[in-house]
Amino acid sequence: MPAEPNLPKPARALSGIQPTGRFHWGNYFGAIRQYIELQPGDRQAADEAYYFIADLHALTTVRDPAVLRGFVRDAAIDLVSLGLDPERAVLFVQSDVPEVTELTWLLMTVAPMGLLERCHAYKEKKTRGLPADAGLFTYPVLMAADILAYDATVVPVGEDQVQHIEVCRDLAGTFNHLYGEVFTLPKPRLVEGGAKVPGTDGQKMSKSYHNTLDVFEEAGLQKKKIMRITTDSRPLEEPKQPEGDHLFELFSLVAPAADRQALADLYRRGGFGYGEVKKKLVAAAGEFFAEARARRAELAADSARVDAILAAGAERARVKAGAVLARARRACGLDRSVAPIGAIPRRQG
Ligand code: TRP
Repeated sequence: MPAEPNLPKPARALSGIQPTGRFHWGNYFGAIRQYIELQPGDRQAADEAYYFIADLHALTTVRDPAVLRGFVRDAAIDLVSLGLDPERAVLFVQSDVPEVTELTWLLMTVAPMGLLERCHAYKEKKTRGLPADAGLFTYPVLMAADILAYDATVVPVGEDQVQHIEVCRDLAGTFNHLYGEVFTLPKPRLVEGGAKVPGTDGQKMSKSYHNTLDVFEEAGLQKKKIMRITTDSRPLEEPKQPEGDHLFELFSLVAPAADRQALADLYRRGGFGYGEVKKKLVAAAGEFFAEARARRAELAADSARVDAILAAGAERARVKAGAVLARARRACGLDRSVAPIGAIPRRQG
């Protein structure tokens, strides 16, 4: 994907990934791949990148501690295996940076109830008559703190998170208005093609539709899922449109351009069976993720290395978040080393 040329300067990219299960192709092609492409070092990359595993957010849905620990570890291993380079991007676990939780409180004091009531995660639960907890209600405030704590300027997200970035900008603006220029206002960066990964049934790929192909799925299981992908029942001979066909679209994600073209031609010519195409898809997927799979096997066997990566990431993240939090504390009057009466120093620390 060619990165947008108009990244803000300095471009400090940040995004959070909820550890709520294993990553599927929708997560990878819709989000993770773009995060990786933004990490510094590449031609069109950001100047700095912060990526974290949002375990505090996951607490609003994952209620089994052992399961949560597993999801967090798997997420870290998966991300690094897929190419997130902890030397170039800061990779850490959200809860390892307590500064963010404190910042959440400061932002909570400027967050209007009405604003949060309009946020979709909470609103949806509410309209369906389901009980919602305060964690879900204030979820966007924690997310705002996540972003503001690192002075992020660009937040790559899917469409569904744009509202939350708006809330973040809103809270940051209010805080700045009250206390001076403390926070940097971020911009969302819509992930290209984020919603376009189809599931095995042709609907959008999503865990809740049970139509996912997982990135690191056991090969036999993945093959079975692919062979069961729904297709239409038109006769073999009939020429078909590749565009809009979910089997073709899935193939396009993992196949080299030449193979994609060859398959498009085959579709248009007709006289092929979908079984044949599915076998091609199994092979192309195997090849596409082979390297990541090998890296994953290695990293999964080296838990000390995983721990070291996350510890180093947390340390770097805390330096940045600590500085921003100090700025915010000073601005709103929590820092008692500042003279009790007099001008409020703006934007220090
Ligand atoms: N809410 C995001 C999601 O569900 C995850 C997330 C948490 C996040 N904090 C963030 C994304 C900060 C971007 C920036 O996908």
